[in-house]
Amino acid sequence: MSEESTNPVGKPTAYSRVTLSRIMTAVDVNLYGTVHGGVLMKFIDDVAGAAAARHSGGTAVTAAIDEIVFSEPVRVGDLVHAHAQVNWAGRTSMEVGVRVVSQRWDTAEEEPVRVATAYLVFVGVDVAGGPREIRPVLPETPQDERRFREAEIRRAHRLARRQAIQQHRGTP
Ligand SMILES: CC(C)(COP(=O)(O)OP(=O)(O)OC[C@H]1O[C@@H](n2cnc3c(N)ncnc32)[C@H](O)[C@@H]1OP(=O)(O)O)[C@@H](O)C(=O)NCCC(=O)NCCS
Repeated sequence: MSEESTNPVGKPTAYSRVTLSRIMTAVDVNLYGTVHGGVLMKFIDDVAGAAAARHSGGTAVTAAIDEIVFSEPVRVGDLVHAHAQVNWAGRTSMEVGVRVVSQRWDTAEEEPVRVATAYLVFVGVDVAGGPREIRPVLPETPQDERRFREAEIRRAHRLARRQAIQQHRGTP
C-alpha cells in the first residue's frame, strides 16, 4: 500500500474548483417557458461530480443531495455558469458546494444573477464500487474556512436525521 493511501496528503480547497458553462435552449424549458429544475439538477450534479473527482483523484459517486435552492428562474438564451468546490472531506465522503449564476441573454453587461445553490455528498469509490479513503481538504481563505465549518454543521444534521429515522423505523 502506498504512503498516500494510508496517510493521504491534503489538497487546498481551490484545487477542486471547477466551472461548467452552457447556454440554455428551447429543449430545456418547463411548461411555463423557463428552464426546467431537473435540467439544472443534472447540471449541478455534473459539475459537483467533476469537483469531487478532482479532489479525490479518482471516481466518486453522488451519495446524497440534501439541499438545492432555486432562487431565480433561468430563461432560454441565458449563459449559465455552475461553480463547484469541495468544501469538506471526511474519511471517504466529501461535501461539494455548487453556486449557479445566470448571465441574462438580454442584459449581458450586467452582473450574473445567482439562480441556484446546492450542497451534495459524494463518496470516493474503488474499482469494486466500495468507499475508498480520500485525502483531506485544506481550507486556505477565511471564506473556505467558513464553508468548511458550515459543511460540518450540515453533515452533523444529515447524519443525525438519518439516525433518527432509522431509530424510528427500528432499523440498525
Ligand atoms: C455511496 C456509497 C458508495 C456509500 O456506500 P456505503 O457502504 O453506504 O458506505 P458507508 O456507510 O461506509 O459510508 C461512506 C461515507 O459516505 C457517507 N454517507 C453515506 N451515505 C450518506 C448519506 N446519505 N448522507 C451523508 N453521508 C453519507 C458516510 O458518512 C461515510 O462518510 P465518511 O467515510 O467520510 O465518514 C453507496 O451507497 C453507493 O454506491 N450508492 C450509490 C451511488 C450512486 O449510484 N449514485 C448515483 C450515480 S453517481
